Amino acid sequence: MNIIHAENIQKSFGDFEAVKGVDFKVPQGTCVGLLGPNGAGKTTTMRMIMGLSSLSAGSLKVFDTPVDKVTRAEKMKIGLVPQEDNLDPDLSVRQNLEIYGSYFGLEKSFIQQQADSLLEFMQLGEKANNRVNHLSGGMKRRLIIARALIADPEFIILDEPTTGLDPQARVLIWKSLLKLKDQGKTLLLTTHYMDEAQRLCDNIVIVDGGKVLDEGSPKELISRHVKNHVFEVQKPVPEALQDSDIDHEDIGDSVLYYVNNPDKVKHLLPDGITYTQRVSNLEDVFLRLTGHKLRE
Ligand SMILES: Nc1ncnc2c1ncn2[C@@H]1O[C@H](COP(=O)(O)OP(=O)(O)O)[C@@H](O)[C@H]1O
Ligand SMILES: [Mg+2]
Repeated sequence: MNIIHAENIQKSFGDFEAVKGVDFKVPQGTCVGLLGPNGAGKTTTMRMIMGLSSLSAGSLKVFDTPVDKVTRAEKMKIGLVPQEDNLDPDLSVRQNLEIYGSYFGLEKSFIQQQADSLLEFMQLGEKANNRVNHLSGGMKRRLIIARALIADPEFIILDEPTTGLDPQARVLIWKSLLKLKDQGKTLLLTTHYMDEAQRLCDNIVIVDGGKVLDEGSPKELISRHVKNHVFEVQKPVPEALQDSDIDHEDIGDSVLYYVNNPDKVKHLLPDGITYTQRVSNLEDVFLRLTGHKLRE
């Protein structure tokens, strides 16, 4: 079963088309990553799924129900981790969880039980009575994730859950997301970090300018767009390599060559040439598809 099935969904703000006909599915029990530069339309897509923003066109099913017909009971099965920190800074960590739980009309005893286990799950137990404005960025993000889990949702939407966090804080969040996956939860995630997507996602949808550029498992995307190995060769590139038919991309000071067999490039590189060779990754795919130009 698909938790989400989007077909040709579009969203315009006045004359501006933020989402221009996007298709994707989120099968139950999987983690799907929506990757794209700033302004790609990721948050807008998530808001449409949550019913916070209407569709301009297309069909969007959530739990097999058209998004505008999703019931309150079905909405309770979705946990949202928004891009912005919208915790209540004047309340304690525990109060933030409990008050959020009360919006769902959950039993007080259930909320308290959930709060206890989520504080432990997100390693916030020691901070339970601290005010939110005393927390670090990583703790705040963990609290927002805990809050999204208060009603024990089946499907969790995470909009850039680790942006701006230090590596330790990111690793902690990855671990908890992997545990959620092990519990059979379905995840839809946006991120700027390709290592994060590669680690967590079964399937990746790369979007830019409101359109899907490609989708597939990390492995599929890598083999389709950048092969197994990347050589970054500083200019001037030896003529034999320039004349070869090897798949490549000029990135200014150097040229990237993509091959499955590293010898194919190596024997065209005379001594004294500066280059680096590495196994290719999702970041190479992303840059190849969305270009190297800086986005605002
Ligand atoms: N309420 C809105 N009114 C007008 N433009 C919007 C609104 N929300 C988003 N946009 C525009 O739509 C585009 C996509 O935004 P967004 O979905 O937030 O992108 P992302 O999350 O991928 O960075 C951006 O150009 C953004 O400025
Ligand atoms: Mg966004």
